Amino acid sequence: MRRSSDWIRAASTGDIPPAVEVDLTRPSIARVYDYVLGGKDNFAVDRSAAQAVMTAVPEAPNIARDNRDFLRRGVSYLVAEAGITQIIDIGSGLPTVKNVHEIAHEANPSVRVVYADIDPVVLTHGRVLLADDGNATVITADVTQPDTVFGNPGLTGYIDLAEPFAVLIAGLLHHLNDAEDPPKVVAAIRDRLPSGSYLLITNFLDDGSRRASDLQHAFLTGGLGAGRFRTLKEQSVYFDGLDLVDPGFVPANEWRPDELTRTDSPVTSLYAGGIGRKR
Ligand SMILES: C[S@@+](CC[C@H](N)C(=O)[O-])C[C@H]1O[C@@H](n2cnc3c(N)ncnc32)[C@H](O)[C@@H]1O
Repeated sequence: MRRSSDWIRAASTGDIPPAVEVDLTRPSIARVYDYVLGGKDNFAVDRSAAQAVMTAVPEAPNIARDNRDFLRRGVSYLVAEAGITQIIDIGSGLPTVKNVHEIAHEANPSVRVVYADIDPVVLTHGRVLLADDGNATVITADVTQPDTVFGNPGLTGYIDLAEPFAVLIAGLLHHLNDAEDPPKVVAAIRDRLPSGSYLLITNFLDDGSRRASDLQHAFLTGGLGAGRFRTLKEQSVYFDGLDLVDPGFVPANEWRPDELTRTDSPVTSLYAGGIGRKR
């Protein structure tokens, strides 16, 4: 049972962000991830869940950094090479360094970006970050209910769903358990993509190692209760019917690495990423 003292009201300034209630008794994926990336928008309960993961595998924060590095390269590819001008980032997380709209706008300032996340705290922080940006916005939505994303007026005002766009689902599907049927969730999103659209996906990767099973155990039992490590084969169905962009769905650091991409991490085989294109 929650006590009123277990809740705080997130800071709200001006007329932009609505106040949201934050449950301090449970870790949130967005805040744990923020902590692991070195952010400040987290609480003791989040740091404790993160600690359980880092106790299992001390190098675990590198996985989050590898994910952000994949996103940097992937979004640059989508905008600079594939010519994408509309992006929907589902499970976008709290603002961090090098946010998707900032990466996209380096290549093309007119790209429209919609951030969508189930955690209302993301909406609050996102609205502050994006207050002065006419080409990016944030909505609250649930990836398992595509209408909350694609039917959201906050999105349809920004994205022309009849024209090609890119959907990013980075670091989210591994937080859905098997009963939530991630392949079905992704299939419903693929169905919404018009021809010429792209789907970018990243997730924890089960490489068969002890580290993978230890990490999965820590995620499932350390407070978050979610964090599945699935094999490349289990996850390849996410791209069914799409043409994979070279080099395919692979360990994330093997996807078009550049001079900033880490090659020496012991956890580099525990994260996968890829981009598919709808014909
Ligand atoms: C690990 S963070 C990833 C953030 C960012 N996409 C990245 O790759 O750096 C996962 C995010 O997914 C969000 N999330 C979890 N379940 C979700 C759902 N059913 N629908 C939408 N977002 C969800 C969490 O709130 C969290 O912000």
